[in-house]
Amino acid sequence: MKVLGIETSADDTGIALIEAEGDPPAGGRSSFKFKVLGNVVNSQSHAEYGGIYPNVAKREHIKNLPLVLEKVLLLAKESVSRPNIDTIAVTVGPGLEPCLWTGISFAQELSKKWSASRRMPIIPVNHMEGHIVLSMMEISGLRKSRYRDLRSPDIGERLHNFEFPALALLISGGHTELILMKEFRRYQYIGRTRDDAVGEAFDKVARLLELPYPGGPEISQLAERARQSEMTSHYKLPRPMMHEDNFDFSFAGLKTAVLRLVESKGPTLKDTPRSDLDEFKMKIAREFEDAVTDVLVEKTLRAVEEFGVNAVIMGGGVSANKHIRSEFDQKLKAAGCKLLACPPEFSTDNGLMIALAGYFHALKKEFVAPENLVANGSLELC
Ligand code: KG4
Ligand code: ZN
Repeated sequence: MKVLGIETSADDTGIALIEAEGDPPAGGRSSFKFKVLGNVVNSQSHAEYGGIYPNVAKREHIKNLPLVLEKVLLLAKESVSRPNIDTIAVTVGPGLEPCLWTGISFAQELSKKWSASRRMPIIPVNHMEGHIVLSMMEISGLRKSRYRDLRSPDIGERLHNFEFPALALLISGGHTELILMKEFRRYQYIGRTRDDAVGEAFDKVARLLELPYPGGPEISQLAERARQSEMTSHYKLPRPMMHEDNFDFSFAGLKTAVLRLVESKGPTLKDTPRSDLDEFKMKIAREFEDAVTDVLVEKTLRAVEEFGVNAVIMGGGVSANKHIRSEFDQKLKAAGCKLLACPPEFSTDNGLMIALAGYFHALKKEFVAPENLVANGSLELC
């Protein structure tokens, strides 16, 4: 089955075409296999605004969607006017509604344009399910080219070999959630953030340190430099809710604690040489990343134990973070639990995750008439 996935929930315009076959995972090795025929992401730059402006992002999606689609179809060696595609999957939420609607309208137009006798069916996909499903894939065979075009030579990419129950840890710009999966696509929220999402905290702290948006990769680089130069820090940040007897998170206080440090050091730093300022930022970045990691690892491990989980599926933009990954890798290994995460370049939003999740909906014939598609900015998984 050939599935086209369209993603426009935030500032990335992503489209991918996959060819997939086989059954959904039910524990152990599944018969599911897929091949990426084309995958293109156009990441908008919102650095000058310090965040995403929905109406600016929407305008960019409208401009980018036809160009991204054309690239994908050319890569897939498909006809641009009438490609051989079985179904279209599109993100309907959660995300920024003006942005979600651009993807939906585009999918509706394509369904009309490409339908000969029958209307091409459309699959509404939850963005967070996309992150989960992509992280379950063992996509080692994919190559990355300079166009962010990832193709595999054969229909050989497949699912990781793991058993349920699994735990999904979703960490992105808008979400921080722990979700128990007793079986594939059966979701139960067990914890979430009470205020800021982890990615949001990275972005806000980056802004306090006058670093560009998105802040996650910037903080991560500074923190890594601090670790490499063995720079120790006497700045101490809190580990919010780490020892509370629940699976919820809170990151707003961490950002406020950084603000206090910046304010107290600010006046003196203004007159200090550049190298001292860089050192200050590196130390704060490292302590902030350590604090976030400590909380995420501690709470996840506790949930692994409590629910007898065999695998942790980590997804969302923040799962690209090297330090968070390596800490999870070590700690989960020691607990006899698998860590499933996609290659970092797939952690942020893309069309591939939507196409993959869409395939499993298509197997169950979960289609919607194009005119009935609705965007829902706060869509939940269950
Ligand atoms: O999943 P995603 O692309 O979009 C949402 O659905 O939100 O995640 C974007 C978030 C941003 O907050 C960004 O700062 C963060 O992921 N991010 C990172 C890293 N790369 C992206 N955070 C920490 N470390 C990174 N390496
Ligand atoms: Zn996302």
